[in-house]
Amino acid sequence: MQICNTIPALRQLLDEYRKKGKSIGLVPTMGALHSGHISLIEKAKSGNDVAVCSIYINPTQFNNQEDFEMYPQTVEKDCELLKPAGCDVVFVPSHEEMYPGGFHNDLTKLDFGSISEELEGKFRPGHFNGVGIVVSKLLNIVNPDKAFFGQKDLQQFLIINKLVKDFSFGVELVCCPIIREKDGLAMSSRNSRLSQEERNEASLLFKVLSQAKEKLIFGEDVNVVGNEAKEKIASNKFFKLEYFEIVDIKSLKPIHQIKGLEDIALFVSAYLGKARLIDNILINATKCSDN
Ligand code: PAF
Repeated sequence: MQICNTIPALRQLLDEYRKKGKSIGLVPTMGALHSGHISLIEKAKSGNDVAVCSIYINPTQFNNQEDFEMYPQTVEKDCELLKPAGCDVVFVPSHEEMYPGGFHNDLTKLDFGSISEELEGKFRPGHFNGVGIVVSKLLNIVNPDKAFFGQKDLQQFLIINKLVKDFSFGVELVCCPIIREKDGLAMSSRNSRLSQEERNEASLLFKVLSQAKEKLIFGEDVNVVGNEAKEKIASNKFFKLEYFEIVDIKSLKPIHQIKGLEDIALFVSAYLGKARLIDNILINATKCSDN
């Protein structure tokens, strides 16, 4: 496994692979890797000759300075996990490499339209602009055949999908299923911020999502199901609910009546102590990769 810290070094290495006809799969990450990321690396390796993982904590996508400063930095440990997973190349750039003009400057603004205004967009102003910029940079730098993202950040995936289509990036995007702990908690780098007491409560979000999904499949009223779910989370003293929404998978706008179950996704975000947790569930699990 080779580690590159600069764009020219990475481009040179990948050009050599390409000259030999090798296909390249990219897994963009911010490090603090867990089994969810490792499953993406394994997918990248099984579908391509060369698996590249980028580790870069992108400052422009943090709308909260404390969240940025608290983001775990574990590059050495990450590399120890990446090697046995089959990763060939790790790209670990500095801020100067990624934003030579500085990241506080007036960077290009991306407007993804209404899908970026729903859900996370309401609580994390500027977040998707920062994601769009860094993912565009990574796609331009690596020029992968395929890029792999987790369904846990489903809104992010839909936005990157739009970015790739709108700017005609020659990459195939792959959305991979959420990897969960035994009790259902979606794996996340931010879970390390949970105290033992908070961790014991953390699976509530998945339980509420799963119960709501079952009720919708059973034909219960969307508004009733949504309100019950919100109540269950809000009444738990450990959680501070931001949103629980039952939405149309394409527009991400809340739905109040069910037309077709396969077009529905359920999203939740809540603070548990200092950790901001997000999760989602699809009624039709194949929908993620269809988009
Ligand atoms: O999902 C993430 O970890 C980040 O948003 C990404 C895609 C690596 C961009 O910084």
